[in-house]
Amino acid sequence: MKKLVLAVLSLVVCLNCAFATAQPSYAPEISWDYPVPLTDIVSEYTLLVNEANLLDKSFKPNPQVKLTGIKRATSAAIYMEKTAAEALKAMFEAASLVTEYAYVTSSGKQAVAEYGEEGMVLYLKSGYRSYGTQATVYANYLDRNNGVDDGYVAKPGSSEHQSGLCADILNADYAGRPTMTQDFKWTPEAQWMKENCADFGFILRYTEEAEAQTGIKFEPWHFRYVGQNIATYIMGKGMTLETFTDETNAAMEDFLARGGSVEEQIEYEFLKANRPPESFVLDEYGDDGDAEVSLVF
Ligand code: DAL
Ligand code: ZN
Repeated sequence: MKKLVLAVLSLVVCLNCAFATAQPSYAPEISWDYPVPLTDIVSEYTLLVNEANLLDKSFKPNPQVKLTGIKRATSAAIYMEKTAAEALKAMFEAASLVTEYAYVTSSGKQAVAEYGEEGMVLYLKSGYRSYGTQATVYANYLDRNNGVDDGYVAKPGSSEHQSGLCADILNADYAGRPTMTQDFKWTPEAQWMKENCADFGFILRYTEEAEAQTGIKFEPWHFRYVGQNIATYIMGKGMTLETFTDETNAAMEDFLARGGSVEEQIEYEFLKANRPPESFVLDEYGDDGDAEVSLVF
């Protein structure tokens, strides 16, 4: 009987294999060499919404779903785009498994939050808002703020909330307050979300450091779904969606100028992610005299 050698860890394990370092035969000639797969970049989850990139009045997330089974900081129903909603529920679920969390207090001291059986509890305050609702939110904010637009509420058409891809998330204390304030950042919940959001495909969209770039004041509660690969990249580099978009636009321009094909690259990424393990006949023979086979995952 043939003996099967499983080279599970990497191609490097398969030292005797002459083809180990060769690209699979379907690799496109012109390579996409940006660190995030092209499939993620051309997805609907990279949609950039800001004052320079407005959504049409009629834009609605599709499909959108009602968020159920989680705590809300409002009695109103909240809707989000379906994939973003599922990711949000996964993040809430992960928080509920946290029993203690080390964080930094407003006086700069290390502290540990301890949670009971429920674990860390997050509250969803806001998800999808239609163009009309955003117009009302914006007008109400200006009324309260002596007509001054100081970058806390986005103008209608420029709010990510209309995309259904973002959420405002609070803890129990802030969920009970009439307004959201930036000192929310000193809570263990805000710090846990910032640290872990990328695992669920979210980024902290309006950071303290990037107010000038985003045009929006720091919002420690506002998380935007972009997918896990991109979220990990953006959060790891401390970028904004604006700078990420500039970077990927430049990478795309370069790729196309080199003759790259978006369709071929996407097909390649799909096949690579879904391909069966490749097998190689090794230059080795078992006791029975049969050639041994290596499977490379
Ligand atoms: N508060 C955020 C910026 C919005 O209104 O969309
Ligand atoms: Zn928000």
